[in-house]
Amino acid sequence: MIAVLGAGVMGTGIATLAVGHGLAVTLVDIDADKLAAAKDAVRHQLRGAKLMGRMPRSGPTGELTCTTSLADVAGATSVIEAVTELPELKAKVLAEVSALVEPGTLILTNTSAIPVDELASSTVRPEDVAGAHFMNPPYLIRMVEVIRGPRTGDAAMDAARSLLDSLDHDHVTVGDGPGFVINRILQRTINEAARIVEEGLASPAEVDALFEGCLGHRTGPLATADLIGLDNVADSLRVLRDRTGDAGYAPCELLLAKVRDGDFGRKTGRGFYEHGGQS
Ligand SMILES: NC(=O)c1ccc[n+]([C@@H]2O[C@H](COP(=O)([O-])OP(=O)(O)OC[C@H]3O[C@@H](n4cnc5c(N)ncnc54)[C@H](O)[C@@H]3O)[C@@H](O)[C@H]2O)c1
Repeated sequence: MIAVLGAGVMGTGIATLAVGHGLAVTLVDIDADKLAAAKDAVRHQLRGAKLMGRMPRSGPTGELTCTTSLADVAGATSVIEAVTELPELKAKVLAEVSALVEPGTLILTNTSAIPVDELASSTVRPEDVAGAHFMNPPYLIRMVEVIRGPRTGDAAMDAARSLLDSLDHDHVTVGDGPGFVINRILQRTINEAARIVEEGLASPAEVDALFEGCLGHRTGPLATADLIGLDNVADSLRVLRDRTGDAGYAPCELLLAKVRDGDFGRKTGRGFYEHGGQS
């Protein structure tokens, strides 16, 4: 059984990926409503991923157990943490989970921007902790940015790679630091794109059309931000600003206003774009 902590956008998607590959998953959240919604979401995502040929169509589906009790993860063979991008919250959850599981149990954090070693510091065994930055949606995007912290052990790295292999995912391993590779670049790009809209230089659709048409990006930065969740983008930017001291990462006023208004993107139906009927 693998444990997935957090039943939001990413935790639910990671649970879909794992059960689709026959692994039993215990999904933990403090919010019972999120867990109830996650059950349906996993079923729906699994069906879609199979139809798209992105998940094995035959073979057993792993059992999904949803719980609000962290103690239920005690027997896990590996843990993937995907709770809200708040450093103190993640540190607390990781400290608790590392005290519950057997020594040598792989603990992966799906943090967007918090250095792995900072999070590992809160755990009982930092050598068991590595980063696995899954992309959204994790059951469709096969590449994972794996982060090796300065104290991550060889056994944890081997376990991380073999878990990702068993999920039929590719991986590139990078060094530790705020935002790693992808979000050190992407979050700044999103912030700058939002600032351009704030300054009235271009609309979200115009910014994205330029990235797509001129640079060949499949999705522009503001549509990507809506997919990620603007609340998560703002949290990640704060993490980056606080850890780099670089004011360019300070979330711009337009982004903050959207978060204040509850316009988080796809998950609430509105962000830089309207997403009618999507939740
Ligand atoms: N959204 C993306 O595109 C994306 C991509 C890669 C990585 N991430 C990272 O993945 C993590 C989760 O992001 P998300 O977008 O799924 O956020 P989300 O807000 O959709 O979900 C977070 C979940 O964590 C739960 N939670 C909070 N405290 C908890 C606790 N103590 N125990 C268990 N659950 C708890 C919340 O109830 C919520 O359901 C963050 O670190 C984020 O930076 C997000």
